[in-house]
Amino acid sequence: MFLVMLGAPGAGKGTQAKYLQADLGIPQVSTGDMLRAARKEGTELGERVQAVMDAGQLVSDEIILDLIRHRVAQPDASNGAIFDGFPRTLAQAEALGALDGVEISGVLLIDVPDDFIVDRLSGRRTCRQCGTMSHVSYAPTSVEGVCDVCGGETYQRADDNEESIRKRMVEYREKTEPLVKYYSEKGVLRKIDGVGEVADVTSRLRAALEQRS
Ligand code: AP5
Repeated sequence: MFLVMLGAPGAGKGTQAKYLQADLGIPQVSTGDMLRAARKEGTELGERVQAVMDAGQLVSDEIILDLIRHRVAQPDASNGAIFDGFPRTLAQAEALGALDGVEISGVLLIDVPDDFIVDRLSGRRTCRQCGTMSHVSYAPTSVEGVCDVCGGETYQRADDNEESIRKRMVEYREKTEPLVKYYSEKGVLRKIDGVGEVADVTSRLRAALEQRS
């Protein structure tokens, strides 16, 4: 089963994909996480994408598609994957549709009004060690700056500042939102209300997946 998580920056794609991967036994494939890992490792790719990411712009389709082709060829993705933050352009969606052995069975659009986005992203903290996300107001860690899951240090992403968030929202509207129509016309899109407790959003996603099957 190959699923796509669609939604504006901060809609909760990553938070929810982590629950769904446990439910479904297929890996979350986050292009954002893959790019951040390359930056952390100091690879040439990491250096190439750093400025673009921090400015809130999209990385080129070519780079992203190379990453995805390599990732879906790994054994753990042979039965499916949950794409989180991919595809983000029509060109990426078309390339995904043309990949051998990858048939998209559902696209889950997490719908969150713009007013919530800056608040969610500016308060987000991520664990440097295990990647678990928290939020200073909505999902605070027990000890400030320390991950509840692994005890690692939490940090604020470089692109979670107001200027970059605004740019990411513009990129989303211009380049990614057209995918809503694209996947609607293919009959695979499900829109889920992304406002409310994290657990309630997870329940809505699970219900949407059950209806689909
Ligand atoms: P990426 O990492 O994909 O960032 P994004 O799409 O901007 O999404 P986010 O990770 O910011 O948000 P999310 O929806 O996952 O929300 P989350 O669950 O964390 O991409 C980063 C950059 O990489 C891009 O800008 C681009 O440069 C590049 N890139 C990546 N993929 C690319 C591609 N395919 N093509 C081109 N470039 C690409 O939640 C956010 C916060 O809200 C958290 O603190 C969380 O705790 C909180 N929260 C979640 N749910 C709730 C809730 N229900 N109530 C209250 N708080 C909540």
